[in-house]
Amino acid sequence: MQPNTLPTAGGSSMIRLLYLSSAVPLISDKQVQDILLSSRRNNSANCITGILIHGGGLFMQVLEGPEQEVLRKYVKILDDPRHSGAQILYISPATNRIFEKWSMGGIESDPLQFQYISKLRARRLEAIDVNTFTDTMREFAKRLRDAK
Ligand SMILES: Cc1cc2nc3c(=O)[nH]c(=O)nc-3n(C[C@H](O)[C@H](O)[C@H](O)COP(=O)(O)O)c2cc1C
Repeated sequence: MQPNTLPTAGGSSMIRLLYLSSAVPLISDKQVQDILLSSRRNNSANCITGILIHGGGLFMQVLEGPEQEVLRKYVKILDDPRHSGAQILYISPATNRIFEKWSMGGIESDPLQFQYISKLRARRLEAIDVNTFTDTMREFAKRLRDAK
């Protein structure tokens, strides 16, 4: 199956979705903390795991979990006035979780500092090297572990 193709099978297929959005200007640390708190509360109930990176006026989020739950959550997040202009950079079937320990891990860092993310942004959903993508995600997971 091609990495950009959504699985067509039933509701239990797992996917991983990565998007980038612009935070509302002057978003406060407290607002970001509130997002993380409600995410953690809700995501465990929806079997969703992932990471939220905030910095440089941007949010980058990875959501992984059952296809229906992830897509439903993404649509809900799109309506949130604390950000705008969300762009999906990557979406793919997933056979395992990279962020299994985090209902929503949080990192403060400009997402575009990560070379691969700015490349993905420039070449949205094109010619994606799955291994590089997975390596970048594992690097995020390592950051979360180290931040503990
Ligand atoms: C950048 C961003 C990421 C978010 N990520 C999540 C998330 O992973 N899970 C979640 O439940 N809500 C997330 N939210 C919040 C939702 O938009 C919404 O406010 C929340 O789910 C409502 O929760 P409640 O019904 O428990 O108040 C996010 C919001 C923003 C702006």
